[in-house]
This record gives sequence, structure tokens and C-alpha cells, in this order.
Amino acid sequence: MELIHTVAELRSYLKSVPNNVLVPTMGNVHEGHLRLVEEASPRGACTVVSIFVNRLQFGPKDEFDRYPRTLQEDCEKLQSIGCDVVFAPDEAELYPEPQTYTVQPSGIEDILEGAVRPGHFRGVATVVLKLFNMVQPRAAVFGKKDYQQCLVLQTMARQLALPVEIILAETVRAADGLALSSRNQYLTPTERAEAPRLARVLLEVADAVRTGTHAYTTLEAEATTELERHGWRPDYITVRRRTDLQMPHLDDSELVILGAARLGTPRLLDNLEITI
Ligand code: PAF
Repeated sequence: MELIHTVAELRSYLKSVPNNVLVPTMGNVHEGHLRLVEEASPRGACTVVSIFVNRLQFGPKDEFDRYPRTLQEDCEKLQSIGCDVVFAPDEAELYPEPQTYTVQPSGIEDILEGAVRPGHFRGVATVVLKLFNMVQPRAAVFGKKDYQQCLVLQTMARQLALPVEIILAETVRAADGLALSSRNQYLTPTERAEAPRLARVLLEVADAVRTGTHAYTTLEAEATTELERHGWRPDYITVRRRTDLQMPHLDDSELVILGAARLGTPRLLDNLEITI
């Protein structure tokens, strides 16, 4: 496995392997990331994992400085599952000058996660477009746990006619249902035992919707109360259309239930796709 830090070195290395698939990450690699790499590997001649903690997508209250940087351990894990290249640029390499040209997603960037974290998706879309330009992958893999991010990036690729296939991989869960995330490591043992409730609550909403309930607002309020009763601080639990994350109409059948809530310090995200 090659560990590459500069764009010049990356371009020179990839010249002979054009058919590559990119897995963009911010590092602190866990089982969920490894599944994305497994998804990528059979789809191209070379799997490139980028590791870059992107300041542009963090808000003033988000903990950019404290985001875990674990490059050596990450490389060991990635090597063990056959990743070909780790591209780990530093900030000066990725942003050699102030990034005044940015990608401004429009439509869903200011609802749900975008409402809680203004400017977040601009930062995500900008860095991902830059990574696409640097790596020039034929495809890129993203995890559905960050559902809204997936939609933002799919739309960017489609509307800007990027020659990159966007592949979405299913959320990886612990045995008790908790969606894997770098943030889980900040849960205390008591919080970790409580954490699977978020997935359970989404499942309860999904079951009610599947059995024909259209009173989404009531279901959302009940789910929110259920979490609050167990010490969570929910930002949203909501039933949306999959295509654009707007409120569903009665005849919409492809839905997703999204939830985000703080448990202690960590803020956990999860979602569940359903077809009715
Ligand atoms: O999902 C993430 O880890 C990040 O948002 C991404 C896509 C790597 C962009 O920094």
C-alpha cells in the first residue's frame, strides 16, 4: 500500500492506474469505513482512500481541533484489507490558498443537518469536488449513514456532469443495532448501552408507517419524546421523501426516516429507508 501526501505524487502514481475508485474519509477508520473499501475494491483497478480532516465543513462550535487524527492506525487497518493507496494531504496541500471558490449546494443544504450545521454541506461538497479533481476516480463510495450528504454529493455529481459514479453503501451496525460512527468512541459505557435506542426508535416509526399510519408529525413527536425521556436531546426525528428529503405526499412510497440527537456530548445520526 502506498501512503501519499502530495497531489503531484498522487497524480504521478495514478497515471499508470487510471481506473481507480475513491473512498473519501476523515480518518479514524472503523469497521464502517472498511466496508466502504470492500465495496470499492472490486469496482476498479486501484482503491484510493483519502484521509483529510476538512476544516471547511466544521462550524465554529464543532470540534475541528479535537477531531481524532490516527493516521498510523488507519493505514494499518486499510492495508490489512487490501487498500492500494492512502492519500493523506495536509491542510497546506489541500488548501494552499484561502478557498474562495466553493461549491454551494442548493435545495437541501439548509434543512435537517444543514439547519443544525450551517455551511456544512458547502464544505463537504467543496472538498469532495477537489478530491475528485485530484484523484480523478471512475467511482466514489459513500456511506448511507450520512444520508443527506449522499444526496448532496449525488446531486452535485449529476448537475455538474462529473465523470464519477457515486456508489452508496449500506450503514454498518453493531450487533445491538447502533450505526457505526467515529463519534461512538466518545460515549461513556452507560451512554453506549443507551445508544441503540436511536435505531430502535426509527424502526418503531418505520413499523407504524409501514402499517399505514400517515400521521407523520405525531409519530415524530412520539419518537422525540421517547428519546427525551431517556436523556437524549434530539435535533430531529423525521419522515421524508428519499429523493429530496422534503415532507412526503400521501402518494410517496420511497421514504427515509432520519434522526439526529445528542446523547451526552456525542451527537449521533441514523436513518432507515422504507418503501410503503
Ligand atoms: O463523510 C465524511 O467523512 C466527510 O464528510 C467526507 C465525505 C470525507 C468529506 O470530508
